[in-house]
Amino acid sequence: MDKLVVHGGSVIKGSINISGSKNASLPILAAAILTGEDCIIRRVPDVSDTNYMIQILSALGAEVERSSGTVRISCADISDEAPYELVRRMRASICVMGPLLARKGRAVVSLPGGCVIGDRPVDLHLKGMEALGAKIEFEGGNIILTAPDGLRGAEINLRGESGPTVLGTDNVMMAATLAEGITVIESAAAEPEVLDLANFLNGMGAKITGAGTRRIVIEGVKELKGVEHTVIPDRIEAGTFMAAAALAGEGVRLNRVNREHLRAITEAIIKSGHKVEFNEEGTSCFVERGEVLQGVDLNTSPYPGYPTDMQAQMTALLVTTPGISVVKDSIFPQRFMHCAELKRMGADIKLDQGTAIVRGVEKLSAAPVMASDLRASAALVLAALRAKGTTEISRLYHIDRGYEHIDEKLLMLGADVERVRV
Ligand code: UD1
Repeated sequence: MDKLVVHGGSVIKGSINISGSKNASLPILAAAILTGEDCIIRRVPDVSDTNYMIQILSALGAEVERSSGTVRISCADISDEAPYELVRRMRASICVMGPLLARKGRAVVSLPGGCVIGDRPVDLHLKGMEALGAKIEFEGGNIILTAPDGLRGAEINLRGESGPTVLGTDNVMMAATLAEGITVIESAAAEPEVLDLANFLNGMGAKITGAGTRRIVIEGVKELKGVEHTVIPDRIEAGTFMAAAALAGEGVRLNRVNREHLRAITEAIIKSGHKVEFNEEGTSCFVERGEVLQGVDLNTSPYPGYPTDMQAQMTALLVTTPGISVVKDSIFPQRFMHCAELKRMGADIKLDQGTAIVRGVEKLSAAPVMASDLRASAALVLAALRAKGTTEISRLYHIDRGYEHIDEKLLMLGADVERVRV
């Protein structure tokens, strides 16, 4: 089990490239199940979540080759049962359900277990599959979906108590590509990753309009073909490095970003007093630590709102920002595990039912801390860059789930970090 040792206090500067999006890659890899032809997917980040997805596809019988960010998948002959041992390791495995059901008329997928960032049900995914005509049964911890006569288009409202569902929208959209007739998804998730998946599916011959808005219309087709696709930049990795640059930077350039996808994050960083400038095309940004800083109030909400996946990292930035900041997570109100660890480093945070009240302190001090989930670990790395002394972050496997070579990228920017095998 690796840990990251961060010697705090060094200044970061220079430029790095942002990787392809993990959250776009996962459903896109799963969507290759929808055809027997070869799919070539570029800029798939080398992180453990994409590795799990590739292992699941291989276990289903797909032929997969991966070399420097490009993945070639052939699902000529696949089984309809996703193995529990692999599925249980990653909640996003649920997105093989829609494509398996559409392609095979049957899908067996384990029910995802609990998750440290809160109870994460799949009721909306199942509501969507049922509306498309699937029969759903539960047995031995598995969800068994069957549609021996194929799926039928339907009107489906995917709004849950906390708003739309990203992977639920992906699952229903993928299943509906091969359904008979027209499917309309109301209250769909409008995240850029959903749009990227729709672009991938349309490249395969699907007929999807409205992706990236709250209403997606899918006209079913008889079959889909192979496609080549380049995954969009990872807006959460970009946001994390923007926060790092604001915390400990002397001018950091991030290349291969998408300005449009970063609007809410950019706004929050500028509001707290830092400088962010994009090039004309919006594909590269320069972030500089500001001189007059102030606390900000944040509330996570579905895209184009402020992303829950950037809540922990922004909290880490606000911990040493003068003034009071109020950070609310409306999507995952229990997602504040990082706060206890940040407090061990000297942060002044009070938690109150899905809200963190942060009073900016002048200094943080290093402490041994433990990563609890992917984005919480990123927050600890950010705080450690600013802290006095050496911070050891254990359970690094959490961060390796979603950040491609984070230690190497930080080293390139001049941070003093080392990965240690324990
Ligand atoms: C995706 C992202 C994750 C991000 C989240 C919210 C991927 C691989 N993961 O997860 O990083 O934090 O979107 O932006 O893209 N819900 C239900 N019933 C359901 C499904 C969801 O009530 O059937 C609730 C959830 O508990 C949560 C909210 O809806 O409160 C949003 O979750 P959802 O968008 O589904 O998250 P994921 O798609 O799993």
